[in-house]
Amino acid sequence: MQTHVFLNAHQVGQAAATLIAAQLLRKPDSVLGLATGSSPIPTYEALIAMHEAGVLDFSRATSFNLDEYVGLAPDHPCSYHAFMQEHLFSRVNIRPQSVHIPDGEAADLYAAARAYDDAILAAGGIDLQLLGIGHNGHIGFNEPGEHFVYGCHRVALSQSTIQANKRFFASEADVPRYAVSLGIGSIMQARQVLLIATGEDKAEAVRQALEGDVSPLWQASILRTHPDAIFLLDEAAASRLSGR
Ligand code: GLP
Repeated sequence: MQTHVFLNAHQVGQAAATLIAAQLLRKPDSVLGLATGSSPIPTYEALIAMHEAGVLDFSRATSFNLDEYVGLAPDHPCSYHAFMQEHLFSRVNIRPQSVHIPDGEAADLYAAARAYDDAILAAGGIDLQLLGIGHNGHIGFNEPGEHFVYGCHRVALSQSTIQANKRFFASEADVPRYAVSLGIGSIMQARQVLLIATGEDKAEAVRQALEGDVSPLWQASILRTHPDAIFLLDEAAASRLSGR
């Protein structure tokens, strides 16, 4: 477990992109686990800049996104499909057929979730998993609860997540109440995990993840048991850690 603290979100993005670029240079056919939300945007901007500068090639990479809202079509502007197109996929040379995002419109969500887990296994597992963190400590959409859920699954979003994510929608009523998320098992099986957290509003979740009990009440705390997890924080997100 490593923790690195940077001055600001821009530097966090540069650091995360550097580690992802190193992974792709070492293994051009890497399987990347990708995240949505505002936290990874500076990382994606830095990766796009490296691609445009000619030093980063995504043509042999495969990606699996963490999650998607239930009931949103891929072309819905608030879907994570649309987010990824806008912020990364349309701007680098990853092949469309190598990109995977859970299908929030599947008629049988349970079967689709099993198929998503199987596709990750068939691809050889995730080499590097990028994560943000929710205010309540969620990773992907693994919400606080009594258990860590192993596989890809349908999740009822917590009220705090609905509140946090309503900024992306016209109104709170428009935020879907359910999502499909990769489970904690798949995240923990990634060979390396990079968690990005920026801003004072993430400071408590970061403190609980790094210094609280390892508990499903703060799902990101499980990452402390991962053999190669790296937290990339800005000073504001690190501000409640002991010794700071
Ligand atoms: C969303 C996503 C998470 C993300 C988190 C934080 O709900 N499902 O994968 O890490 O919330 O988002 P943000 O980075 O916008 O704060």
